[in-house]
Amino acid sequence: MRRIRPPKVPRKTPAELELMRHSGAILARTLEKLREAMRPGVSTAELDALAENEIRTAGAIPAFKGYNGYPATVCIEIEDVVVHGIPNPEERLSPGTIVGIDVGCTCEGWTTDAAFTVALGEVDDLRQRLLSATEEALAEALGLCRPGRQLGEVCRAIQECVESRGFGVVRALVGHGIGRSMHEPPQIPNYYEAGEFAEYELVLRPGMTLAIEPMVTAGTYEVRQDADGWTTRTADGLPAAHFEHTIAVTKDGAEILTVSRP
Ligand code: MF3
Ligand code: CO
Repeated sequence: MRRIRPPKVPRKTPAELELMRHSGAILARTLEKLREAMRPGVSTAELDALAENEIRTAGAIPAFKGYNGYPATVCIEIEDVVVHGIPNPEERLSPGTIVGIDVGCTCEGWTTDAAFTVALGEVDDLRQRLLSATEEALAEALGLCRPGRQLGEVCRAIQECVESRGFGVVRALVGHGIGRSMHEPPQIPNYYEAGEFAEYELVLRPGMTLAIEPMVTAGTYEVRQDADGWTTRTADGLPAAHFEHTIAVTKDGAEILTVSRP
């Protein structure tokens, strides 16, 4: 039987990693501003404008805007929206809901990508557990990334963390390598299905830069797309959560690049 080889994954030099740190810091600062602004009543278009202004003021470019024709700086993920919700001046955040926001930043040609989901006001137990499970799945994945580790082990850990809590991992969308462009090899599924991805065999090495992004559903993992060609929702209408960081594999672990720096 012919074994399919894992893809070649570009490894960044220390100087390139420094540029990605800078891009990631601008993005993290933008996400902090968004977190403060995410209150009931704010429109998703206002959040988009805030993010675009923050990124451009820092001398960077919104990575999503114009990507395959995507019209905005951020993706907004309200309740059953898993990813790629388009900001809209008519749409306002409301209490009792969960809302994710996903943003990409390109600075001096280097792209970083990050997302988080928050609860607005008081949310029910299901939504709270969904947020914790997704955030913990990401943390666990980051803790596993180190040289010598097979990517498939990271994928499997995410799936186990999520499914052991009774939730689903989206199959139709995956994390990805990132750097010179937003999507580079490898693809990073949030589940492990033997033989499905050659990437599972990839051995992590220092200098690889990865966007790891569990997308977790309260019910079925099936998704469907709206007529706008972007907004992706859970097929059963139950809520979903999304957390993402861009990381670099270091000599003995992983460094989160999408953190704010003084
Ligand atoms: N975080 C998403 C991804 O990695 C964002 C892409 S949105 C797009 O694919 F609009 F830029 F396509
Ligand atoms: Co991404």
